[in-house]
Amino acid sequence: MEKREMLYEGKAKKVYATDNADVLLVDYKDDATAFNGLKKGTITGKGAINNRVTNFMMQMLEKEGVPTHFVKELSERETLVKRVSIVPLEVIIRNISAGSFAKRYGVEEGIVFNEPTIEFSYKNDDLGDPLINSYHALALGIATKEDIATITLLAFKVNQVMKEFFKNVGVDLVDFKLEFGKTSDGTIVLADEISPDTCRFWDSKTHEKLDKDRFRRDLGNVEDAYQEMMKRILG
Ligand code: TMP
Repeated sequence: MEKREMLYEGKAKKVYATDNADVLLVDYKDDATAFNGLKKGTITGKGAINNRVTNFMMQMLEKEGVPTHFVKELSERETLVKRVSIVPLEVIIRNISAGSFAKRYGVEEGIVFNEPTIEFSYKNDDLGDPLINSYHALALGIATKEDIATITLLAFKVNQVMKEFFKNVGVDLVDFKLEFGKTSDGTIVLADEISPDTCRFWDSKTHEKLDKDRFRRDLGNVEDAYQEMMKRILG
């Protein structure tokens, strides 16, 4: 597979064309941003960790029946993925109150829910990724009813699989963000990444934060937290 021109540079990844029109190459960066790009920094080693962690999770999810965009890990930071058109929804699943949920509803962080929650944000940087409900997404033509039903089912399935996996490595899966895409034949697949950038991980015993909140909230030991999560996930 040959790497061709860069198609897109995002906050945490670059995307390249390849000699296969149905396959893209993703290159993970150490750059970190928060609060819609307002806060900028570098997390040394993050790109390599997020690449390996994402690919491990995607392969585990595939085995559990969740279709993903994953094709092949090429190097420390580079992975081949299926070309998809991204459904512009950030799909957020929560098991424990934290972050914007705690803030919006005026509750403390750490309330364990009886049932997981789902919410969507409209992926639009200019608008600051506003919260959106499924009726609004339909009205705006962002997704079809069927797409939203499939995405909802898959997102809860991902939660089931990941919650169990993380429990076994001593981590509470607090919440996470997923993105889905449509392949050329119209199949909805899990895309983007699953990493400490996009999940909240709390140590089950100490409740220490082992994710990007260490960067967002200036808690220190950011690199250590990413390393620790990679060790627990990949062994
Ligand atoms: P929130 O509590 O800030 O809404 O975040 C919920 C989850 O989504 C959390 O695990 C972090 C993740 N997330 C992203 O992956 N990208 C984002 O831009 C934001 C705001 C959150």
